[in-house]
Amino acid sequence: MNNEDSSSWSFETLAVRAGQERSQFNEHSEALYLTSSYVFDNAAQAAARFSGAEPGNVYARFTNPTVTMMQERLAALEGTEACVATATGMAAILSTVMALMSAGEHIVSSRSIFGATQQMFGTILPRFGIETTLVDAGNIEGFRAAMRPTTRLVFIETPSNPLTEVLDMAALAEVAHASGALLVVDNCFCTPALQRPLLFGADLVIHSATKYLDGQGRVLGGAVCGTKAVTDEVFKFLRTAGPTLSPFNAWIILKGLETLSIRMKAHSANSLELARWLEAQPTVARVYYPGLPSHPQHALAMRQQATGGGIVSFEVKASVGEARAAAWRVVDNCRLLSITANLGDTKTTITHPASTTHGRISAEAREASGIRENLLRIAVGLESVVDLQADLTRGLG
Ligand SMILES: Cc1ncc(COP(=O)(O)O)c(C=O)c1O
Repeated sequence: MNNEDSSSWSFETLAVRAGQERSQFNEHSEALYLTSSYVFDNAAQAAARFSGAEPGNVYARFTNPTVTMMQERLAALEGTEACVATATGMAAILSTVMALMSAGEHIVSSRSIFGATQQMFGTILPRFGIETTLVDAGNIEGFRAAMRPTTRLVFIETPSNPLTEVLDMAALAEVAHASGALLVVDNCFCTPALQRPLLFGADLVIHSATKYLDGQGRVLGGAVCGTKAVTDEVFKFLRTAGPTLSPFNAWIILKGLETLSIRMKAHSANSLELARWLEAQPTVARVYYPGLPSHPQHALAMRQQATGGGIVSFEVKASVGEARAAAWRVVDNCRLLSITANLGDTKTTITHPASTTHGRISAEAREASGIRENLLRIAVGLESVVDLQADLTRGLG
């Protein structure tokens, strides 16, 4: 495949064409290479490949042509030099920490992050001597105050899961860089179709490719994107420790990327319509959606993101004692919306974060993150909004 002109390609063209490498069969669609190892011409070549003196495939824990195509395409879409694909989004986060940090070092993280990331930072990393300080999403001075000489990473999600808090990436890049740390942005909710964190000064972008990059709820995957110098460190960890993306999953994600741009536009349009409708429902107390003017960081979101994205969260009206029951009533009355914790699928999903995705963190931590019992998260799919509204009306009524 001739990618020589790719520097002038627009996002949509890169999404369809970047990174493709055709085999001797000249296949039109990207090939799926299911092989765990590669054959060498002779012993000398085997030795040269293993030592790194000769570039090329050695073993699929390190490299695979299908995975390489997916990595190159995603790097092109994020506007970065390089990408390392991983087995899951959590593997991408763990690999980043393991590759770049040592015992005695420190992370400053937004409090508003995915539940498993909070668990990793709060319970697993401390066993290896890595501490994390959590800071409220909007508190830039809090981030600055939390920095230590040992801080290596400032970690954020924007918009955050599930409250869609929007963090100021340029301001946080300045805070991180002033202390010699890297800004790491989990770009799972927006994808590069809506937001490219490196343009705002971020150093690394993390993906759960499980979500919108696949886009159809089929496979798990993850990625770390950034400069070659930094992602090479992540690659060194991966080739030894093995949280590698399977070629089959890479192939699914590669094909998913081809429709990313049009899907994200459609998810966003549906979400905005649903968010406006939810805001008008008498039994809804509050709607969280960055595309709504009522969102506290709406102006910042519109500077950083092309649209509001595909996630809408809302609180149902209920007394404190009734909060969970009222939220569960909405969930239990859904016949069309899928009751599942995944997001980024063509099928709309509904989740009660306090008892699922954020159920393993303490009640105090949930309260501090603003994840209340009456909160529901909808990952808006590509069905008709009219049908989604009809489904939600039963529980909300
Ligand atoms: C924002 C965010 N980051 C990371 C992850 C973890 O991704 P994975 O499930 O692929 O490990 C998730 C999963 O839901 C997520 O929502």
